[in-house]
Amino acid sequence: MSSEDLRQLFLTFFINKGHRLVPSSSLIPADDPSVLFTVAGMQQFKPYYTRAKDPFRDIHLSLGEPLQASNVVTCQKCLRTTDIEAVGDESHLTFFEMLGNFSFGGYFKEEAIALSWEFITNYLKIPTERITVSIFGGDKELPYDEESYTYWKRLGVSDEQIISGNRETNFWGPVGEEGPCGPNTEIYVDHLEVWNLVFNSFYRHSDKTLEPLPLKGVDTGMGLERLLLVTQFPNQSNKTVFETDLFSGLMAILQADSQINEVRNLRIIADHLKSSAFLISEGIKPSNIERGYILRRLIRRILRYSELVNLQDNYLEPAIDWIIQKYHSIYPEIDNKSLILEVLSDEFSKFRQALKKGLKEWHKIAGELKQKNILVVNGAIAFELYSSFGFPLEFLKEIAEEEGMSIDEEGFAEALKKHQEISRNSQEKKFGGHGLKGEIQNTEENIKIKRLHTATHLLQAALREFFGSTVAQQGSDINPDRLRFDFSFDRKLTPDELKKIEAWVNQRINDGLVVSFYETSLNQALQDGALGLFSQRYSDQVRVYEIKDPKTGRVYSKEICAGPHVSNTSEIGSFKILKEEAVSRNTRRIRATVG
Ligand code: GLY
Repeated sequence: MSSEDLRQLFLTFFINKGHRLVPSSSLIPADDPSVLFTVAGMQQFKPYYTRAKDPFRDIHLSLGEPLQASNVVTCQKCLRTTDIEAVGDESHLTFFEMLGNFSFGGYFKEEAIALSWEFITNYLKIPTERITVSIFGGDKELPYDEESYTYWKRLGVSDEQIISGNRETNFWGPVGEEGPCGPNTEIYVDHLEVWNLVFNSFYRHSDKTLEPLPLKGVDTGMGLERLLLVTQFPNQSNKTVFETDLFSGLMAILQADSQINEVRNLRIIADHLKSSAFLISEGIKPSNIERGYILRRLIRRILRYSELVNLQDNYLEPAIDWIIQKYHSIYPEIDNKSLILEVLSDEFSKFRQALKKGLKEWHKIAGELKQKNILVVNGAIAFELYSSFGFPLEFLKEIAEEEGMSIDEEGFAEALKKHQEISRNSQEKKFGGHGLKGEIQNTEENIKIKRLHTATHLLQAALREFFGSTVAQQGSDINPDRLRFDFSFDRKLTPDELKKIEAWVNQRINDGLVVSFYETSLNQALQDGALGLFSQRYSDQVRVYEIKDPKTGRVYSKEICAGPHVSNTSEIGSFKILKEEAVSRNTRRIRATVG
């Protein structure tokens, strides 16, 4: 079945079950300033779940009339950059389409589960042995989702096919700072999660308290690309979304032009081309703040990966033609070839100019540092590359990594801050072209980075708690998606140890510890027992960050660090270890994220 047929089959199925078809909303949320992009189908319906709006009386923002229905169906275009590093694997994408059925006061768990089962098994004819489901297993605050269990059983799903998950895996939402959320049940086909059925039962306030919603709601999301993968390639674990018809033509264009058929790099280019084309078609221009910054990052990544596989710009036009052809009947706004090509080419040429000069300089610097056995590029040097050549931090990290080096990000942040103050004081626009101000205003990412920063200190504290003070930081790298922490340790950590460390950090988060700093001389800081990075050169005056339990007075962490950090560990939300691996014989690396 083609993607066109699959999309239509889903929409028709739900229309026939009494749902109103609503068009996809824009990638830019109409009335939710707390999120940059539309990341889920439910966003345009958020006010109906809370009854802030009545679906029968109030005007729906993009329809221009009331919904006149409590059950609706959509195919929603979405953009998420949280998984940008995973793009190129089997199923992760930045731009994707989400099929969803929604109910606000119409039906709840029993009907939602039965409808999804009917669609998957009767309409798509997916054999039941390829299916597993997950349900919310309950925790300290919320009960086990027994109803969902009962309804799945009633449909003939066996106990072996039902897994129960936790708050992390089986509780969804809210989108943004606050909003509707609830336990969910997920459907997996061939072990790939394809459909998420969320039972909106609470409103989560920004202070994380849950308040029961006046009416129960259903919000489901099924990734079209993933569903297509399991329907076009049943039981074939070697296939990816890039081989489905939503990508295969685009991949063929790239493959035909590429001198080096590095398939992962080509997949990244294909994905980012789609997301950039959609963003540009919605009027976003590359810039150094917020949405424009995300677009700039995507386009600059396209260019970087294109260079890695020796792609000349000739592929751009046929690639954009293909994207427009594939999507214009569903998302007519994509039909703006000249604008898309113009923005891409313009950003390419800006970046190329900066690259040429900057890379020359960088190779000189990298060579000198390596000669001195220095593998961490200090903040001042990194900042110089940033301010003189417009290299975004992201990019600096990538080129450093290619040389087996890393960037001292805290030092970079410090340099950035200092220069901002200077620039503010002197009213100079010296750095204007490089978006100094913009970078600082990039609030959503900055908040995430602060949370990751503080989580890194807690992680170090946890490691020392479990393994003693021989554990020492060897390096740290943070981007808006994850933290990376390198430390001295001579063996692999066991899954059990990782679990304990994760739990320890989460406990400190739940404890609501206070994070504060003082400024002192380097000597005094070391005398106070503050941890520092051995290879790092500090100025004489340093900042010491402390994480302290206000009730018991116990200090969990004390580190020399420029910040920035959250002011209370509860702002971190939750902490999750993604991966543990070796960097060298005596150095291990943990990647983790916060949610
Ligand atoms: N709103 C459900 C999901 O995005 O998975």
